[in-house]
Amino acid sequence: MTDRDLLSMAKQASLNAYVPYSRFSVGAALECADGSVFTGCNVENAAFGSTICAERTACVKAVSEGRREFKRLAIYADSENWPTPCGACRQFLAEFSHDIEILCSKADGRYVSYKLSELLPHLFNF
Ligand code: THU
Repeated sequence: MTDRDLLSMAKQASLNAYVPYSRFSVGAALECADGSVFTGCNVENAAFGSTICAERTACVKAVSEGRREFKRLAIYADSENWPTPCGACRQFLAEFSHDIEILCSKADGRYVSYKLSELLPHLFNF
């Protein structure tokens, strides 16, 4: 699977975003160590703090289906800015794979890539 394939799955997933409050759709596609891919979108709630980001949706889907090792995560948002994962999603993903590659793509189709360890060098752990 190429970066572009994974990014296009993230873009497709963003179409399912439930975003009545922000109107900001995000999609994610998480590639696991065994090659399987789990997608996710953001799901908002009237109690704003209960909103779940696209990245965590994909991660929870993967873990609940028995996957705990991840290779790459593609994120898409129809935005002018690079949609890097929020702090909570960085910590959430790092629980499973701190070395995962993160591809962030925006409306013009361009993307940048980071290591999660680069975005969150000092994760919380005990
Ligand atoms: N959002 C994500 O889905 N991923 C992020 O990493 C940051 C923010 C969502 C949450 C909310 O539905 C909308 O984007 C605006 O914050």
